[in-house]
Amino acid sequence: MERSTETIRNAYKGNVKGAKSEAIAPKWQLNLTEKVMQYYLDKNLVLDPCILHEFPKPQPGHQYMLYAHIPFCKTLCSYCTFHRFLFKEHKAREYFINLRKEMQMVRNLGYDFTSMYIGGGTTTVLMDELAKTIELARTLFPSMKEVSCETDPQAMGDPSISMMKGLVDRMSIGVQSFNDDILRMTERDKFGTGEEVFENIMKAQEMFPICNVDLIFGFRGQTDEVLSADLEKVLQLSPRQITTYPLMVTSQTKRSVKDKIAAPPEIMAHQYRIILDTLTDSYTQLSSWAFGKANNEGFDEYVIDNDEYLGIGSGAFSFLGESLYANTFSLRRYNERISTGRNGVERKKTFKKFDVLQYRLLLGLFAGRLSRKYFRLTHGVSVDRSLFKEILALKLIGAIKENPVDPEQFIVTDRGKLLGLVMMKDFYSAMDNIRAELRRPLKEEDM
Ligand SMILES: C[S@@+](CC[C@H](N)C(=O)[O-])C[C@H]1O[C@@H](n2cnc3c(N)ncnc32)[C@H](O)[C@@H]1O
Ligand code: SF4
Repeated sequence: MERSTETIRNAYKGNVKGAKSEAIAPKWQLNLTEKVMQYYLDKNLVLDPCILHEFPKPQPGHQYMLYAHIPFCKTLCSYCTFHRFLFKEHKAREYFINLRKEMQMVRNLGYDFTSMYIGGGTTTVLMDELAKTIELARTLFPSMKEVSCETDPQAMGDPSISMMKGLVDRMSIGVQSFNDDILRMTERDKFGTGEEVFENIMKAQEMFPICNVDLIFGFRGQTDEVLSADLEKVLQLSPRQITTYPLMVTSQTKRSVKDKIAAPPEIMAHQYRIILDTLTDSYTQLSSWAFGKANNEGFDEYVIDNDEYLGIGSGAFSFLGESLYANTFSLRRYNERISTGRNGVERKKTFKKFDVLQYRLLLGLFAGRLSRKYFRLTHGVSVDRSLFKEILALKLIGAIKENPVDPEQFIVTDRGKLLGLVMMKDFYSAMDNIRAELRRPLKEEDM
């Protein structure tokens, strides 16, 4: 029998008081991490207006990943922090045509890519257009080995998902929770009940070499029992990858999420412990929030494994050399610019080398893979000297320690992974603030 949302809320409150599990990091460290991170983000993550006609040319010997953004969803979730508009077929068709034009422009600049990540929104809103886009990518970029896509659980139950077979290597499905009360509270019941979602994924899993299931923790009413049941359900499905995001509340979603569907933030460390305890027996941790069945899965978080990526489409970001670029969030301007042979970039920030090193340190902590060799070979520096204060601080708070077996690697402790998760959450929220700022002036004709 289903419990009402209110009953779950009460159970949750009781549960917090009774929580006994070991805290991975003391509260003061979590608070301090958030403060330090906020300071760096406010200082560094400010992008300047810029009109760029084309991306810089690829550098010899560099490896790039292609990111493509599909900013449409058939229904909009209140907590979602991503760039998306309500789906209108004619707009989406026009957009896909321009996306393919932009891909050709990037090819003409000399780019080749070993992997492609198609994110959203919901990439499968028009499966025929998505299929055409992936086919073109595989033709234009001969080095392309892996294509990853994001979709919702309902699309996995749609017979036309079979069009993606052989084109998509990794399908990432946003489940968030299997609990019907949480699904109702977050209005995710529009994608089916927990049981229907489970069945859809079970059937479609055979179609793709890798399936990833996204869960979110930190919802109001998500008691230890509810979270554990979600984790048990996902273990039953046994996907190749699982991602467990902490619910991120940003300036865009504050009004609809905070005090409504978000649990108090102090529950995070406790729930993270439950996640680690439940998943790490049968899964390898790929990053602070991603788990995979094998060590070399890839695709957990494309920014970790790809120093440089080029983003096409409205609202896509690129990191090339030492610069971050953001494409226009207006569909109208995107279409205008691409159809006149220019790219969509409207914002840019070039970082100092030291800032890039700090960013790579954050990603290393988040990935749970922090190596001296990486900094030496990729950036030509000794991490111990260049980031002396940062490494010392991480050691003192117990986030990293020396690896007695391999002096090239640091060991990132569970505490380090939690702090990496907190920092990454803040980083994503700051990126969302950029999205909010760039979306604010949009008018009806831009969407
Ligand atoms: C951009 S969505 C695309 C997936 C697909 N549209 C869906 O909803 O199933 C990718 C994932 O981002 C995560 N996400 C979206 N908003 C979030 C938030 N505020 N906090 C944490 N994760 C979030 C969800 O887990 C979602 O599955
Ligand atoms: S969570 Fe997915 S379906 Fe919901 S608005 Fe965000 S991208 Fe769209």
